[in-house]
Amino acid sequence: MIEAILGNFYIIFYTFPRMFVLKIGGSALTDKKTGTIFVNEVAERVARELNDEQCVIVHGVGYVGHKLAKQHSLHLGLQDNQLAWARLRVEVKKMTRIIVEKLVEHGVPAVEVSSADIMRASNGKLVSFDVSIIDEFVKKGFVPVMHADGALDDVRGLSVISGDTIVTELALKLGVSRIIYGTDVDGIYDVEGKVIPEIHELSSVELWEVDDFSGGMRKKIEEALRLKNVDVQVINLRKDGALADVLAGRHAGTLIRR
Ligand SMILES: Nc1ncnc2c1ncn2[C@@H]1O[C@H](COP(=O)(O)OP(=O)(O)OP(=O)(O)O)[C@@H](O)[C@H]1O
Ligand SMILES: [Mg+2]
Repeated sequence: MIEAILGNFYIIFYTFPRMFVLKIGGSALTDKKTGTIFVNEVAERVARELNDEQCVIVHGVGYVGHKLAKQHSLHLGLQDNQLAWARLRVEVKKMTRIIVEKLVEHGVPAVEVSSADIMRASNGKLVSFDVSIIDEFVKKGFVPVMHADGALDDVRGLSVISGDTIVTELALKLGVSRIIYGTDVDGIYDVEGKVIPEIHELSSVELWEVDDFSGGMRKKIEEALRLKNVDVQVINLRKDGALADVLAGRHAGTLIRR
């Protein structure tokens, strides 16, 4: 009897479609120091290596977004700088368009879903995020593509919601089984510059640290550790094969699991 019940759970568990979130990091898409753009190359690699599991893609803004955001102090909110916010949107959407086009060219049914239309913030914090539209696109067989964006904010007018925050919220609300962060590094480095294969708590690792506008790796680990039962993997998207490896269940980069 018990075996029959467990058998049913087993079938339900293994036949329920698995969903993951892929963040195409701004660090993979652009060189944050020199401004060199790798959007075509990285989008093409992702398109080649994706499998047919259900997935949502969020891309970061890298050099393109961070430069404009810094120049116009967008982190302070809406301050008679509407044109700067609009320019930022134009530049980021160019990246989104290339990513969506490459995916579609390679047979992935990607559709852009505009994050700013379904998010609201309050004093810089995301307070509402309607994921029902994303959920429905995924269930209908599409791969939604979103990006870090300025969300309407009842205190600051507008505030930047990072790609990493969108990723975590998606994971919490859609119940995904894993998150893959694609970056320009082979994983998360320790102080000696060696990739840490697995992280289970922040206090047990000594990280190599560099300053980053969006919080770099420490923020990613903190966000990852907010999640239960989700595997978070940090891999290199500037190189062939890492995405294909993790999707096939092989180890690559750093795995963060609470
Ligand atoms: N311990 C660490 N191990 C590896 N990389 C680290 C570490 N600490 C900081 N970094 C930096 O973090 C970067 C990746 O995080 P970053 O926020 O810059 O990228 P991203 O999230 O892909 O970009 P975006 O925020 O634009 O989407 C790497 O390029 C690296 O320079
Ligand atoms: Mg970042």
